[in-house]
Amino acid sequence: GAPAKADISKLQPGQQMTIEWRGKPVWVINRTPEMMANLEKLNDQVADPNSEVPQQPEYITGVLRSIKPEYAVMIGICTHLGCSPTYRPEVAPADLGEDWLGGFFCPCHGSRFDLSGRVYKGVPAPVNLEVPPYKYESDDIIVIG
Ligand code: FES
Repeated sequence: GAPAKADISKLQPGQQMTIEWRGKPVWVINRTPEMMANLEKLNDQVADPNSEVPQQPEYITGVLRSIKPEYAVMIGICTHLGCSPTYRPEVAPADLGEDWLGGFFCPCHGSRFDLSGRVYKGVPAPVNLEVPPYKYESDDIIVIG
């Protein structure tokens, strides 16, 4: 399949956009400094904090799982049975609880992922959300695939 290109220059801090690539939704999230700082606090709560299961290209490492720190890029398909998780960036919403620091919630069976797509322990989804191969063609243009 062909790569998919998108201009991310209009994506504001805290916002999410979706790029279609090979029939799949690829999310780009412009994470705020607070969102990035919160990810470290979740290392004990997620199943694979350092992304050791190969759900990303080799150049994607660490807590942020991204090339540029702020821009998270991941395939928006739950690794349990393929539903579409919902972007829930807010901290401690009533329905997700005081410990919630922003992430993705899958409405089908309740899997939870953080803002790097790292899966929480004890949910049905077995592994982190997949990070597709991608690169930057310029400051503004991201190329998926
Ligand atoms: Fe997401 Fe089952 S498909 S929790």
